[in-house]
Amino acid sequence: MGSGIAQICATKGLDVLINDRSADLLDRSMQSIRKSLQRLTQKGSLSKETADEALGRIRTETSLEGLRHADFVIEAVVEDEAIKRNIFQTLDKVTSVHTILASNTSSISITKLGAATSKPHRVIGMHFMNPVPLMKLVELARGQHTSGQTFEACKGLAEFLGKDVATSQDRPGFLVNRVLIPMINEAFFCLMEGVGSAEDIDKGMRLGTNQPMGPLRLADFIGLDTCLSIMKVLHNGLGDSKYRPCPLLQSYVDAGWVGQKAGKGVYQYDQEHQKDART
Ligand SMILES: NC(=O)c1ccc[n+]([C@@H]2O[C@H](COP(=O)([O-])OP(=O)(O)OC[C@H]3O[C@@H](n4cnc5c(N)ncnc54)[C@H](O)[C@@H]3O)[C@@H](O)[C@H]2O)c1
Repeated sequence: MGSGIAQICATKGLDVLINDRSADLLDRSMQSIRKSLQRLTQKGSLSKETADEALGRIRTETSLEGLRHADFVIEAVVEDEAIKRNIFQTLDKVTSVHTILASNTSSISITKLGAATSKPHRVIGMHFMNPVPLMKLVELARGQHTSGQTFEACKGLAEFLGKDVATSQDRPGFLVNRVLIPMINEAFFCLMEGVGSAEDIDKGMRLGTNQPMGPLRLADFIGLDTCLSIMKVLHNGLGDSKYRPCPLLQSYVDAGWVGQKAGKGVYQYDQEHQKDART
């Protein structure tokens, strides 16, 4: 997700600094951006010149200190509240009082992330959809402390990036994942109970409800680890047993079968598709 967000920002003319834990991960991120830009130029949706200029605007950095001069930070690390809170605490220290700190979280409380900082009025949820360069929506979520100014700046950025905005209250899973992920979880229950095969569940939902991708294929694309984390946030946050994660989903994650990015989830993927999962 981070690579996709960096890519669209750079394509629109913004200077971008990507941060990750190691030079290797940053190299992989740059590779996926190059590949995605190449695909867009081959399809004719982007000129070669724009793609080259975009690549020239992206720098990489392994230390969060490198974000000292950033106007806007969009955090997109794993869906883990403790890790995100930690990162927001550090970002709070290294960035200026004017920096907006946005999270691409799929489900975690923006109010909690804001409370980890000394400037919660500048913290907001900015939830891009996957794959970022192709999907039109950005879901914005205001925490208890988020100021109107931060919201307007974030909306302005989303629109500048060519996205449409849907606004959600700061509730577990916000709007999109409150609806989507329980559907995916239910598909896992159907698979676990033998109600149908993975292929039939996906075919049923594709052809029967006009979804471009069946829920199990979509889960592999999102990442089963991310889906499971979101179900846990819904279950804990809303306290209703209807949100309990399906044991089969938990078991696939325990096995390391986290979907397309790992080469195996509900389905098996070759190397080419694994790389595609990151673009
Ligand atoms: N996958 C999706 O379809 C999707 C869609 C919308 C939003 N999101 C959200 O975006 C975020 C990232 O999801 P993803 O699918 O890109 O996950 P991912 O596992 O592909 O990538 C996570 C990134 O976070 C980095 N990371 C992990 N721990 C870190 C740490 N302590 N410090 C710095 N970096 C760290 C990893 O190196 C990796 O680059 C999550 O919050 C997720 O819920 C995901």
